[in-house]
Amino acid sequence: MVDSNAPIGVFDSGLGGLTVVSQMMRFLPQERILFVADQAHVPYGGRDLSEVCGFACGISEGLLRAECKAVVMACNISSATALHTVQAENPNTLVLGVIEPGARAAARATANGRIGVLTTVGTARSAAYTRILHALDPEIYVQEVPCPDFVPLVEADAISTPAAFRAAQEYMTPLMDAGVDTVVLGCTHYPFLLSVLQKVAPDICFVNPAEQTVLELRYEVKNRGLASQSAHPAPYCLTTTGETAQFDAQLHRFLPPSAHPVRLASARWMGGQLVIEDTHTSLSTAERRLVEHG
Ligand code: DGL
Repeated sequence: MVDSNAPIGVFDSGLGGLTVVSQMMRFLPQERILFVADQAHVPYGGRDLSEVCGFACGISEGLLRAECKAVVMACNISSATALHTVQAENPNTLVLGVIEPGARAAARATANGRIGVLTTVGTARSAAYTRILHALDPEIYVQEVPCPDFVPLVEADAISTPAAFRAAQEYMTPLMDAGVDTVVLGCTHYPFLLSVLQKVAPDICFVNPAEQTVLELRYEVKNRGLASQSAHPAPYCLTTTGETAQFDAQLHRFLPPSAHPVRLASARWMGGQLVIEDTHTSLSTAERRLVEHG
């Protein structure tokens, strides 16, 4: 019997997954979150797809061992490589990725049937967006553009720099030349670069898959009788496999202010297993800030 007041597990290689957490704050404020940023391994995008699949399966198992009632892969490359494996291994658990919701939102948004996808090298190599968009509508033109510079720019908090602008110009040029009217932000880090992308391409409709993912999550949670009965806003536990102090400092720039109580914890890889250490530490910088703004 699943505890409806258990947290929803959410993970990414790094800060990008916070774009999904932000949408959960908006659409599912009563749900607790246990978030893992696998910053020990970020970026995932240039790695072998089988290696990324191993990380994503390991984190999903860690979240389920921590008794999460559902898992959201807030990471495109994890969704491309590990979603079906984790779903097959846990047939009674709600496990969602971001690619199918993102593709559905893009297919609805395009007026001319021409869609671009900005994504990591690995997700582009998997061709998951092209496959799913073509399953929705074989007539849609899809062009995926790998953007290797974007994740390091976001993780270094260099999102409004000339380097970010130059990278956005470089990656958007082939898509604008191809006449796309809609571009999917096919990596959860990329919504942090939206203002720079909009400067480069003001007429393009940019789709953030996080929003559609969380709307589908809300539907599934309710439909399966998993909706939390606890008072809102629910507490969040945010963990990193990297440096907790650095993660704490990053959070205040990457999460919107909210009234959710936030607690930091750490997560460690031990012999291929993810061990989440929720030490119930006292107020972190992030928690103080979130409460102050609450
Ligand atoms: N944010 C992740 C994604 O959506 C991974 C980015 C990376 O680590 O390269 O694919």
